[in-house]
Amino acid sequence: MNRVTVVEHPLVQHKLSLMRQKDTSTALFRVLLREISLLLGYEVTRDLGVEFHTIETPLTSVDAPFISGKKLVLISVLRAGNGLLEGMLDLVPSARVGHVGLYRDASTLVAMEYYFKVPDDLADRPVIVLDPMLATGNSAIAAVSRVREAQARDIKMVCLIAAPEGLAAFHAVHPDVTVYTAAVDDHLDDHGYIVPGIGDAGDRLYGTR
Ligand code: URA
Repeated sequence: MNRVTVVEHPLVQHKLSLMRQKDTSTALFRVLLREISLLLGYEVTRDLGVEFHTIETPLTSVDAPFISGKKLVLISVLRAGNGLLEGMLDLVPSARVGHVGLYRDASTLVAMEYYFKVPDDLADRPVIVLDPMLATGNSAIAAVSRVREAQARDIKMVCLIAAPEGLAAFHAVHPDVTVYTAAVDDHLDDHGYIVPGIGDAGDRLYGTR
């Protein structure tokens, strides 16, 4: 599939299977999402640029690689995006962080914005948007459109599970944004939930249902 990277590593798939199980506790679900986000983070940051600096080891000097350019920006789509954010920040502690607050209107499934706060210099930074469930694609489309309006140019999208319908809708609007995901599931149900999926990511993450 074009512009979709499915991270098929056995550790990711094993952890995702544990997350899918309806009896998995909130505490374990949260730990697993953090662990998977580390592994997805490893993939999505694979093409960060490096520059070489001469350093001294205890034995000699060597030209060693360091990540170059401006600090990357992680944008969490509230609230479930925070579950991915934690692990990504473990991996890249110096990243800048933005938040986009969106909720799904229950009847139309349209993404409604209630909060937007991002670093003010997105133009020269790699930006990674985090939203665990790419279902209809509406919230991912809205979030990426908003960070584009804020001048972001180098944008990637990370989710946990995507639906084929959501990916098609997303790439119809943002064809240049690669989506990194642990799985592309079967379909959406009539309420916009991904099947087989994990249920409501926010509820499972925070124990709100
Ligand atoms: N949001 C969720 O949390 N789960 C889904 O399956 C779809 C959207």
